[in-house]
Amino acid sequence: MENFKERVIIAIDYNNLKSVKDILERLKGEAYFYKIGSELFTSCGSQSIGLIKDYGCKIFLDLKFHDIPNTVYNAVKSAGELGVDIINVHASGGIEMMKSAKRGGIEAAKKTGKSIDIIAVTVLTNLAREDIKDIFYYFEDRVNSDNLNKNHADILRNLVLHLAKLAKISGLDGVVCSGYESLEIKKNLGDDFKTITPGIRLKRGNYAAEVQRSLKAGNIKNIEDGMRIDDQKRIMTPSMAFNSKADYIVVGREVTASNDPLDALKAIYNDIERFAKN
Ligand code: C5P
Repeated sequence: MENFKERVIIAIDYNNLKSVKDILERLKGEAYFYKIGSELFTSCGSQSIGLIKDYGCKIFLDLKFHDIPNTVYNAVKSAGELGVDIINVHASGGIEMMKSAKRGGIEAAKKTGKSIDIIAVTVLTNLAREDIKDIFYYFEDRVNSDNLNKNHADILRNLVLHLAKLAKISGLDGVVCSGYESLEIKKNLGDDFKTITPGIRLKRGNYAAEVQRSLKAGNIKNIEDGMRIDDQKRIMTPSMAFNSKADYIVVGREVTASNDPLDALKAIYNDIERFAKN
């Protein structure tokens, strides 16, 4: 796969600039895209953006805005003016909110002179079917659990696809989703509509090969069940995510919590080189 290193976004969930500087140094020349989330931005603000830019890398500002349209417009405009490349909002904020987010991104781009992708979060990858059921259908479930259990098989997939459609209608550039939904989103909404997939995990030994075999046999569910790590649930290997047509993968603790982050990143690259198709 060509230029894949530019499609691997490293999530640096730290609360201090020293750790940011340390990881930037360790991964210098190997990582090109970083994600700043709410922990780092709340702790260190725009200084973290400046630091990453000093290393010539791109930035995904993952603050997942969800508010009234006017507030989101101003938040996205301000974030865009900091010179980041990707900004996200929650799709569940609705069409008007997402349209405002896009407008804020366009205004900011006029000022910075570079385009900004505005992306919608569909369903967080730490949530699985049972969680969605609890959040949205708790009461009904108590009324008639047998009936609902049957219908819940596709709830998560349908909800992700529905939210992705709302994002597309709103003029956004793509969505954050798990690798399990990426392919279907591309099929329904087109290859130009970007998918960014977090929840990336490697398994040691020949696990990646097993994953490929299981995928061919259509056994995705078993893999998912066997790969619950940390607080993530809908997880995949890097190559599986790219084979599901993800434009970008987001890799956090697999690299940042490793004793040797550079070695861990190289293991990610190795999995992509060996198993990603295009
Ligand atoms: O450490 P890990 O690889 O699980 O990190 C995933 C990162 O991606 C975290 O920064 C998390 O906030 C983010 N994220 C996510 N699921 C989403 C959107 C963002 O896990 N749907």
